[in-house]
Amino acid sequence: MSKSTDRRDFIKLCGKTAAAVAVAKAAGSTLMAPAFALENAPRVRLVKKDGSPLKAKELPLYANWIFHYPYHSSPVLLIKLDDPAPATEVEDKDGKAYKWPGGVGPEKNIVAYAAICAHALSYDSKETAFLNYRRKRNQMTGHGRVITCCAHASVYDPAAGAKVLAGPAKFPLASVLLEHKADTDELFAVGLMGSELYGEFFKAYRKELRKAFGRGKYKKMVEGDVVAMPVAEYSEDAIEC
Ligand code: FES
Repeated sequence: MSKSTDRRDFIKLCGKTAAAVAVAKAAGSTLMAPAFALENAPRVRLVKKDGSPLKAKELPLYANWIFHYPYHSSPVLLIKLDDPAPATEVEDKDGKAYKWPGGVGPEKNIVAYAAICAHALSYDSKETAFLNYRRKRNQMTGHGRVITCCAHASVYDPAAGAKVLAGPAKFPLASVLLEHKADTDELFAVGLMGSELYGEFFKAYRKELRKAFGRGKYKKMVEGDVVAMPVAEYSEDAIEC
């Protein structure tokens, strides 16, 4: 699939996300309709390795978990922060403002971002996790409670739409929209907003993504249930910096 095809698919998927937003609103979920969104992504339920639903209350505080969305090969960091993360305005790579809807869950402190760095596309793989959330201050920049890409020390604020706090990145990580179902405490990934880098990501890492996820699968959208797990379990080397 070419880069233009990727984009077409992504845009096509936008319709589905718009529908997901409408469904979520109708169901009284915590998902807010964004001012601007990359729509039409699939709606998937987050589950644990045993296939049972991942409940918001089961996600540990300061969690640094990973799942893949919207593609089988595109990693996402799932984090439970100390405090509620209110909606805020951020800017994409073209300087266009969009409203990040904030955290979800009973405490409004669960957030998710693409684990593909906005600087030079370093990402979290089974071998190495370059992007990680750490509560303690990191040695490279002195920032705490942040996502750091240890490749070149870009620092993102997970409590504010992944705004860039330091380092060479010029725009936030893409945000993965989550939905929390209050009646079951389940979590769903339902869309994306921000800056789309998947065409460049597939181009840069085609060979290793094919090897890791399968030639016919790495560019396919996920569906149904998607497994989430601690980064430290997923990756052999979750880098601390
Ligand atoms: S690739 Fe992440 S800081 Fe350079």
